[in-house]
Amino acid sequence: MSAPVNPFLFALLRALSDGRFHSGQLLAQNFNLSRSSICNIVAEATELGVRIQAVQGRGYRMPVPPIWLDQHQIIQRLADTPFNVQCVEVLASTNASLMQEALDGAPDGRVLCTELQLAGRGRRGRGWNSALGGSLMFSVLCRFDAGLSVLSGLSLAAGLAVVRAINRYSAHGASLKWPNDVLVNHRKLAGILVEVQGDMNGPAFAVVGIGLNVHLPANMRENIDQAVIDFDEMGVTIDRNQLLVDCLHEFHDVLKAFRGQGFVALREAWMALDAYAGRPVKLLRSGQPEVTGIAAGVDGNGALLVRDADGTRAYHGGEISLRLVR
Ligand code: BTN
Repeated sequence: MSAPVNPFLFALLRALSDGRFHSGQLLAQNFNLSRSSICNIVAEATELGVRIQAVQGRGYRMPVPPIWLDQHQIIQRLADTPFNVQCVEVLASTNASLMQEALDGAPDGRVLCTELQLAGRGRRGRGWNSALGGSLMFSVLCRFDAGLSVLSGLSLAAGLAVVRAINRYSAHGASLKWPNDVLVNHRKLAGILVEVQGDMNGPAFAVVGIGLNVHLPANMRENIDQAVIDFDEMGVTIDRNQLLVDCLHEFHDVLKAFRGQGFVALREAWMALDAYAGRPVKLLRSGQPEVTGIAAGVDGNGALLVRDADGTRAYHGGEISLRLVR
């Protein structure tokens, strides 16, 4: 696991969140630290993606202070849902923590949200990069009685919920790339990682982890091997508290349909937002031959449909990488 953050990091950031200059000397006095400790914490915050301006003789300020996550506000706005939200400042991964909580018996509807992940997980064994205060990252625990077999398509259903929430804010029109990347202008705005455990036909659970880029700094983009976008670039100012509330309201709705009839109830809605529909694509699968054809949407289980001269075939599984052929 990565090294823990400085214990004063969040308190210092909150002190700087009024957008005004604060002298290093005064900050040092208030926190009972040396000026060089303050300087080190600022350097750490900058490394984590926080924008802090340092001006000789004036001190430090955050030119674009984030609206910090506010658990109390979120809980109030979700009073009409069964979600039980907890916000924590820092952890390794909301998915990892919630998987552990699930194994320890946490109830359905538990949501874990954080300002900072030190070991964020992405799909296909990748990491997930995000800036402190510049991302919305959360995981939702969903329990099912009828086993893992009923979970197919859940990750696509989650993608649909996230796109619906985003499209409340932006005229850009977010769309979906199978299985669950959320795209704007063919660049990735949000990713979803669903991790499951349980019996094939008995009690099972899924942890649905969602990450949205609000402000993704240039130094973090360098480590990402695909085209990405954030709300800043889209010209959308986001209060992450409200974005979380909107995502969870939309997720609540799709989950209701999913629990009732499975993914088939959401298939048409998903297909209407499919960024690759009718486009020439190739499928990369480790250790297997490449598949090429025309993307033809998804079936009632959420499997990707690809059409070629021999007909249409369905492809399942999270280890497939889908690419446009240009
Ligand atoms: C992807 O690779 O597209 C999936 C990314 C999922 C990232 C989110 S952030 C919150 C949750 N916790 C994690 O460790 N990962 C997911």
